[in-house]
Amino acid sequence: SALAAFGAAADTYPQRPITMVVPFAAGGPTDVIARIVAEPMSQVLGQQVVIENVTGAGGTTGITRASQASPDGYTIMMGHMGTHGAAPALFKGLKYDPAKSFDPIGLAAGTPIVIVAKKAMPAQDLKGFIEGLKSGGASINQAHAGVGSVSHSTGVLFDSIVGAKPTLVVYRGTGPALNDLMAGQVDFMTDQIVNVAPQIAGGTIKAYAIATPERSPSLPDVPTTKEAGLPDYEVSAWNAVFAPKGLPVDVRAKLVAALDAALKDPGAKRRILELGGTVPKDAEAGPDALQKLVEREVARWTPVLRSAVDANP
Ligand code: MLT
Repeated sequence: SALAAFGAAADTYPQRPITMVVPFAAGGPTDVIARIVAEPMSQVLGQQVVIENVTGAGGTTGITRASQASPDGYTIMMGHMGTHGAAPALFKGLKYDPAKSFDPIGLAAGTPIVIVAKKAMPAQDLKGFIEGLKSGGASINQAHAGVGSVSHSTGVLFDSIVGAKPTLVVYRGTGPALNDLMAGQVDFMTDQIVNVAPQIAGGTIKAYAIATPERSPSLPDVPTTKEAGLPDYEVSAWNAVFAPKGLPVDVRAKLVAALDAALKDPGAKRRILELGGTVPKDAEAGPDALQKLVEREVARWTPVLRSAVDANP
């Protein structure tokens, strides 16, 4: 019977490696979080969770492809505040609906936003940086990971709040953008802390402020935007695991349990925290909380982004 076949599928899952699509370049924030959780998830599931980087269009290329995969538990993905929050406001023809095309598995990490610049940027603080940014106009280059990505949406929000119109430079992820920032090839970006914390600590790039209400324990010397005089710019991103919609209930339960166990793994937890990320609190963990987060984020970002992008198309 159908029920017996269904039970058998769940009992034996997984029988082969699972692909986790990361919709940005290797080495960047989403890839870092994905690799941290994939390792303990593999242990719990008894099969490798293999990362596949499918880049382009601010993460929407990889998420579109993964959303169209068979909902059998062998293709999952790491989405984020951009692909599942900001993108619908910016792509008219988006081929997925963040709130409807997925079975959410759970939040993996919160990733506060930091305003970072190349080391040679002369300003000593955020106020001086903003003055230089406004007077520099299009001669200042701002990196981002594609329209709809976190660095793009939080970046254009920043520009619209401060009234700046820099030249936007697109990358396939903020991993490669960070390399150019370290080399001084691009001037600044707003990026997720897990990508930039080691370079800020090492002094190879500058950090002007972190856009959270409190300082980060991993970057104690970096002021908050409020402390630095820009209280209106408070924004954090997040990364979360999704599957294509229609997973067998028991397969879904195994993935949810594996992610939960991964986030309780002391090594994984420590690595996320060391990089300045946050691990979900009980109320934020799991599929139901993620579904609600996605719905809230789409509603929050849609009006904000439409007006921010209109200001600097
Ligand atoms: C990445 O992994 O490159 C990022 O999450 C890009 C972004 O959204 O800014």
